[in-house]
Amino acid sequence: MRVDLLAGTAYGTSPVIARTPTILVFDSGLGGLTVLSEVTRARPDAQIVYAADDAGFPYGRLSETELVERVLAVMERLVQRCHPDLVVIACNTASTLVLPALRARFTIPFVGTVPAVKPAAELSRSRLFSVLATPGTVARDYTRGLIETYAAACEVTLVGSTRLAGLAEAALKGEPVEDDAILAEIAPCFVERDSERTDVVTLSCTHYPLLLERMRRLAPWPVSWIDPAPAIARRVTQLIGPAPPRPLLVAGEAPALFTSGAGLTGPLRIALAGYGLAQVSLEPMPLAN
Ligand code: DGL
Repeated sequence: MRVDLLAGTAYGTSPVIARTPTILVFDSGLGGLTVLSEVTRARPDAQIVYAADDAGFPYGRLSETELVERVLAVMERLVQRCHPDLVVIACNTASTLVLPALRARFTIPFVGTVPAVKPAAELSRSRLFSVLATPGTVARDYTRGLIETYAAACEVTLVGSTRLAGLAEAALKGEPVEDDAILAEIAPCFVERDSERTDVVTLSCTHYPLLLERMRRLAPWPVSWIDPAPAIARRVTQLIGPAPPRPLLVAGEAPALFTSGAGLTGPLRIALAGYGLAQVSLEPMPLAN
């Protein structure tokens, strides 16, 4: 059974769909795919919609005021169109800023993605760990607050990468991405202090796990890389419950929405299909100015 959410079907009118949660996974671009996989694994029965505000990508370059206005406007449209029961903001750059405004505007629950500072502090033996994120996430008061609260005993290196999210998108689109370009972005994460060195890097932009295998290979020395996606999926099931043992409805392919679609190349469509997103639609929302 397929449910045509994108045609605007009101799920509340169908008793079957009313018992099947609709989860909207949202990011500025393709990074949320790393979260989508985990959420799908946790709730294979759910109707999942993936939405990418690719017209606004990269969020890392928007001012805080622009970003709050942008995410609220896009979410308004997506909520009207998809009627989600829960929204995952699979974007650190947005979550570290916009969650309070989203929760004030909408009554549905929002699960955010924020830098895994507490797990990193608990995992690090050398007490040297790095937060690899967009320049926006690195600059947030929220991120600084996490470090003060959970990592006061550690030396935390904040690395704001201007290029890595774009490189991850390029790689997924099948474009060539040089090792040197990736290495230049991750190199500042690796710090040596006396006889100690960085032993944990938290991937605090959802795009980065798309390049994880290459980052592991290029790293100057082995570290633990924290991908927060499994923890986000656990939070989703805490809020809406685990999958029923024998779901009445097994969701089909998840639909994907793009606010621009300009980068939807053939290789990208194939990659999206690999994530279960074969039905791609546009919700055009050009970025003002
Ligand atoms: N995926 C987004 C994040 O987790 C960032 C990419 C962007 O700059 O838009 O922060």
